[in-house]
Amino acid sequence: MKKLSVNLGSRSYEVAIGSGLLAQAGRYLNGLGLGPQVVIITNPEVRRLHGQKLEESLATAGLSAITLEVAEGEEQKSLETAGWLYNELSRLSAERSTPILALGGGVIGDLAGFVAATYMRGVPLVQLPTTLLAQVDSSIGGKVAVNHGQLKNNIGAFYQPRLVLSNTSALKTLPAREFANGLAEVIKSAVIGDGNLFAFLEANLDSIKGQEGEALEEIVFRSARIKAAVVEKDETDQGLRNVLNFGHTVGHGIETASGFMIGHGAAVAIGMLAAAAVSQRLGLFGEDELARLKALIHAAGLPTEVSGGKVKDILAAMRHDKKIQGGRMRLVLPRAIGDVIISDEAELSLVEEVLTG
Ligand SMILES: NC(=O)c1ccc[n+]([C@@H]2O[C@H](COP(=O)([O-])OP(=O)(O)OC[C@H]3O[C@@H](n4cnc5c(N)ncnc54)[C@H](O)[C@@H]3O)[C@@H](O)[C@H]2O)c1
Ligand SMILES: [Zn+2]
Repeated sequence: MKKLSVNLGSRSYEVAIGSGLLAQAGRYLNGLGLGPQVVIITNPEVRRLHGQKLEESLATAGLSAITLEVAEGEEQKSLETAGWLYNELSRLSAERSTPILALGGGVIGDLAGFVAATYMRGVPLVQLPTTLLAQVDSSIGGKVAVNHGQLKNNIGAFYQPRLVLSNTSALKTLPAREFANGLAEVIKSAVIGDGNLFAFLEANLDSIKGQEGEALEEIVFRSARIKAAVVEKDETDQGLRNVLNFGHTVGHGIETASGFMIGHGAAVAIGMLAAAAVSQRLGLFGEDELARLKALIHAAGLPTEVSGGKVKDILAAMRHDKKIQGGRMRLVLPRAIGDVIISDEAELSLVEEVLTG
């Protein structure tokens, strides 16, 4: 088991990472003085796979838990579902001291976190992430939100959890596509801030894909540490936190152009390679390092390029992006593996060039 803390003054909290952690949730909550009544927010599939472990652990620790299930899917990140949860919390007489436990992936974490931030002006939030993406990215940092209208994550808050318990054994039941999604964010973390993590991924990819406990714990820990460090320097996203968007500017264009048929991780993978290739063309990033990145992304089971015909659609989607103005955009560009800069040097035409290959 590994631990790290996210240091944000009075909003500081611990992230614990390891196998079998759900079974210890009750003990952790007692340690923080949270309870005796708690509310778990999850979805049916995650509850079926992992709910019982959590419920047993809470009961053993003398906590009484009620589980609220929301249906599967990104569309549940809505004000409507939040409204239903507020009703349920009122019906259960949940108080300001009643903690909400978010058991699931990023969808559950963002939704339950948003409800925790707003119900009675805020109740304690505990993140129990069960996807690789949620363990390395969304459960840490306090961004909670629902989607509204056409826009994603546009109604939300910065609301830090009191605790994050990342149970790496829960990842064993994750579908391969979801695991690959998370691996893309792990590779992102390595490129933006940890060259040793990158080397570890290169050397241990088979164990990681084979879900070996120690290797998983290592990559979740190292990625979480990078996210925590960025959040500590820029809790409310004033600029520095943008480094976490490495691969995401082009990635969003790819997701949009595909009508969201291409998964987030796959899109980010291609986006990271595009940004790295742009950086190489600008003379900032070495050709050998670009080749290493491409080899790792490929070995991780993620795509390295888009089919030629799609490039026009991707560029069109990027031109529509409000963050991209006058053909120039802010891109996170690697200077080395483990070191990036934020630059507005690159033009859209250069992105087109590298995507076309
Ligand atoms: N708050 C942030 O900082 C932040 C950062 C990145 C992404 N996000 C958000 O996260 C969301 C994506 O999160 P995600 O990738 O975890 O997707 P997700 O929450 O939809 O989970 C993916 C799928 O895996 C299932 N699942 C979860 N855990 C499982 C397990 N252990 N075994 C089997 N199946 C399991 C879920 O039911 C779902 O079908 C998006 O809404 C995105 O906006 C937020
Ligand atoms: Zn992402």
